[in-house]
Amino acid sequence: MEETKTVLIAGGSGLIGKQLTKVFKERGYLVYKLSRNAHAADHIQWDPKTKQVDEKYLSRIHVLINLAGANIGDKNWTASRKRELIDSRVQSTEFLSELATKMPNLAYYVGASGVNCYDLTQDKVFHESDEYGTDFLSTLVRDWENASDHFDGICPYMKLRIAMVLSNRGGSMTAMKRPVFFGLGSPLGSGNQYHPWIHIEDLCRMIVFGIDHQLEGTYNAVADCDTNRTMMKGIAKYMQRPFFLPPVPSGILKFILGERSMLVLSNLRVSNDKIKNAGFDFKFDKLNKALKDLFSK
Ligand SMILES: NC(=O)c1ccc[n+]([C@@H]2O[C@H](COP(=O)([O-])OP(=O)(O)OC[C@H]3O[C@@H](n4cnc5c(N)ncnc54)[C@H](OP(=O)(O)O)[C@@H]3O)[C@@H](O)[C@H]2O)c1
Repeated sequence: MEETKTVLIAGGSGLIGKQLTKVFKERGYLVYKLSRNAHAADHIQWDPKTKQVDEKYLSRIHVLINLAGANIGDKNWTASRKRELIDSRVQSTEFLSELATKMPNLAYYVGASGVNCYDLTQDKVFHESDEYGTDFLSTLVRDWENASDHFDGICPYMKLRIAMVLSNRGGSMTAMKRPVFFGLGSPLGSGNQYHPWIHIEDLCRMIVFGIDHQLEGTYNAVADCDTNRTMMKGIAKYMQRPFFLPPVPSGILKFILGERSMLVLSNLRVSNDKIKNAGFDFKFDKLNKALKDLFSK
């Protein structure tokens, strides 16, 4: 009888990890999650800061997925928060690569990263081969991806530059829905800035696709890019709320959010040609399709 495949998801208690757990269970995998606050039967306690983990599970792992990292959007980017955003990703990834050497059955690694890594001074559609930018998030992603490269020689691995994940269970959509719910939906900044996005179901499908096809290298996990105005208006339409207020000026957003305002104000267009050329088909390739699905659930 074939051995049950086991996947270990670091940061598996979060938005993407929860959905991914369901997907892997449906595929017959045994799923464990590394958590700093293990409170469920499938959680394994770890602390990437002090490099502590229960090592007895390591020999069972076939696939390792790394989604760990302090939330980028939920707190101001003070110097200490920036340190935490970096350390929680780079240290976790480095620690996992050390643990991977103690996983004799490890066949594949998936490292999350982000699309906010390109040089925003250039007005173009970015591809995986383009240079990193020099802003805070770009250098964070660079260091994070360099840490993933410690898996070189250990097992095949893929680095996924994830776009804004559309889900009805949290993340950016929840933040965008809040003002719309109160009838205060409006574009942010000019509203003309593009945001790359991906439906959470497609992101999970892409991770499975990478494992099944043993993809290697860096891939943009982006279904499409739409303007902030289009996204806010689309959400208002599906929430059956008005959308007539003038845009929230960039200056106000910069004052409130500080440097973090780049998450909503930066104009970023990113290509998905590479993953499509590898044979991946998006189920939700247009915003309207993605929103229709999410609001129907
Ligand atoms: N969601 C998106 O739109 C999006 C877009 C681009 C990239 N990403 C990246 O994809 C990954 C997963 O995203 P997500 O939305 O699922 O994130 P999430 O919901 O914030 O979950 C991330 C998980 O990381 C762990 N974590 C938090 N702070 C940590 C710290 N200081 N040190 C170590 N682990 C920590 C937490 O697990 P425990 O508390 O159980 O330890 C948490 O459940 C993240 O690295 C994120 O940056 C997400």
